[in-house]
Amino acid sequence: MDYVDIIRNRKSCKDFSNKQVDSTIIDRVVQAGNLAPIGMGNPQNFHITVVSTPQVLDMIDLKASELFKVPNSHPLYGATTLIIISVYEINDRNKMTYGCTAGCIAENMLLSAVNEGIASVCMTGIIRAINSNEDILSELNLPNGFTPVFSVALGIPTETVTEPRMIENNIISRNDI
Ligand SMILES: Cc1cc2nc3c(=O)[nH]c(=O)nc-3n(C[C@H](O)[C@H](O)[C@H](O)COP(=O)(O)O)c2cc1C
Repeated sequence: MDYVDIIRNRKSCKDFSNKQVDSTIIDRVVQAGNLAPIGMGNPQNFHITVVSTPQVLDMIDLKASELFKVPNSHPLYGATTLIIISVYEINDRNKMTYGCTAGCIAENMLLSAVNEGIASVCMTGIIRAINSNEDILSELNLPNGFTPVFSVALGIPTETVTEPRMIENNIISRNDI
């Protein structure tokens, strides 16, 4: 797909079906994340966890709905895969660079998902739920010193595909000097 078509077609999905995404597609999406620019230069400060075990996804979904105080909500929107980006020894000095890098990694994966014909949404909300629950953190089996900071949920959408957005519609303010 042409890159303009890809960015016009990226849209957050908030209602996934229960159909699984092929693991070869997930692998290519993760590869795209690996091509992102890395702030402070060391890819070893970043870690990607691919969660597709239904029981772990359910734990995260439940803990997040409790944290948001919206009973019976589904903050994971039924996504069948959750990719969590974690960073090493986050502190006040590196947190902006690490957070931005996680955003770059996530955006590469979101655009790759469009190219693969699957739906996606990036999320920080559930990261709070993950970091506040030792049982979930233990299930993630992260290497020592890593903290989750961002996530990308993937799946097959239930909703009908909407029209691609117009690239000319600037919704972010701008000034030229
Ligand atoms: C840094 C960041 C954090 C986000 N966190 C959440 C989240 O916790 N839950 C959620 O449903 N969507 C989250 N989103 C997705 C936004 O809600 C979505 O991108 C926004 O509504 C614009 O819609 P679009 O992605 O279709 O353009 C997040 C997006 C970004 C960039």
